[in-house]
Order: sequence, then C-alpha cells, then structure tokens
Amino acid sequence: MQPKNPSDSRTVMTDLVLPSETNPLNNLFGGELLARMDRAASIAARRHSRRITVTASVNHVAFNHPVPLGSVVTVEAAVSRAFNTSMEIYIDVWMEDRQNRKRSKANEAIYTFVAVDDSGIPTKVPALIPETDLEKERFEGALRRKQLSLILAKRMKPSDATELKALFMGKSPN
Ligand SMILES: CC(C)(COP(=O)(O)OP(=O)(O)OC[C@H]1O[C@@H](n2cnc3c(N)ncnc32)[C@H](O)[C@@H]1OP(=O)(O)O)[C@@H](O)C(=O)NCCC(=O)NCCS
Repeated sequence: MQPKNPSDSRTVMTDLVLPSETNPLNNLFGGELLARMDRAASIAARRHSRRITVTASVNHVAFNHPVPLGSVVTVEAAVSRAFNTSMEIYIDVWMEDRQNRKRSKANEAIYTFVAVDDSGIPTKVPALIPETDLEKERFEGALRRKQLSLILAKRMKPSDATELKALFMGKSPN
C-alpha cells in the first residue's frame, strides 16, 4: 500500500451557526460541534484509507472558546497517524471574524477511526508520512494517545503502555 501524507486526507468544512444549533447562551451547542467534527474526521479517514470508516473513539475534545450564533465556523480534519487498521484524526476548529475575515482557533479534538470491510471487519490502512513540523509533532504524540485511549477502554494493560511509561517516568521506550 502506497504511504500517504496528511495533505491527502485534509478535509475542510465551513458552515454557519444557526439558531437551532445554539444553547440558551446563544453559543454553538457542544453536541452540534461534535457532529460536525465527526463528519469532517470521517471524510478525512475515508480519503486516507479509501475504505468504509467508523468512529472508534473520541480521545480528546477541548471546548475552549464559545462559538456565538451567526459565526462562520471552519472544521479542518486530517489524519495525524495511521497504525494498522486505525487512524488518529486531528481536528482544528476556526472562527472567522466578520469584519476582517481573520481566523481564530475556537476548539480542537482528536478522534480515532477504524477502516472496515463490507462486513465491518477492521482492515489495513496505508502508512502516513508527516511533512510539516506540526504534522511531525502530532505524529510523534499519537502512539501515546492511542495507548491512553486503549487503557481507558480497558483494551490495554497499563503495564504494556511503553510510550506512556516513557512519558511519565522519563525513560525512552524499548
Ligand atoms: C471500532 C471497531 C471496528 C473495532 O473493532 P474490533 O473488532 O474491536 O477490532 P480490534 O480490536 O482489532 O481494533 C481495531 C483497531 O481499532 C483500535 N481501537 C479500538 N478501540 C479503540 C479505542 N477505544 N481507542 C483507540 N483505538 C482503538 C485498535 O487498537 C485497533 O487498531 P490497530 O489495528 O491500528 O492497531 C468496532 O468496535 C466497532 O465496529 N465499533 C462500533 C463503531 C461505530 O459504530 N461507531 C459509531 C458510533 S455511533
């Protein structure tokens, strides 16, 4: 399988925040943003693997800034690391200033998708080669995040998480 770059999967979705998508403070409802991010991440995972892909886990979401009614919101997703059948997708959410169109970062999230065949069985995905400094940084941290996600899902014993141990104990993984 031919390796891919993050730019091969980059997916950009821009949309407005409408009244039906807001909470009582007139800011974007968290669940609506999660759905928008899930859609963009799903397309990115599909572009990388060219397979059916399913959300395996939402590893991290930070709702750092409220997104007001009427905002123009851009969700940008790209594969940050490919493993065997799973892919980490990094999502950046931007808001656009009405006057000068300058973008500011509103939120970010990290999702894990798995490529499956027509019967839903996990299937191998191409490797990912990061290019920019940011892509390399995200690639480097992805194995730690995968191990943490697997521990929380009770799919991995903490004693097997070599990358995490190295992070907390300052030792390089074997
Ligand atoms: C995700 C799913 C395909 C995994 O299937 P499985 O039979 O458990 O397969 P495996 O144990 O071989 O896991 C497949 C990959 O997913 C990864 N994975 C599974 N759960 C994970 C989690 N919580 N966090 C991170 N990675 C996870 C595994 O590490 C493995 O990755 P790798 O092959 O790259 O090493 C299966 O659980 C599923 O279909 N879930 C429902 C998905 C869905 O419907 N999503 C929408 C929710 S509404």
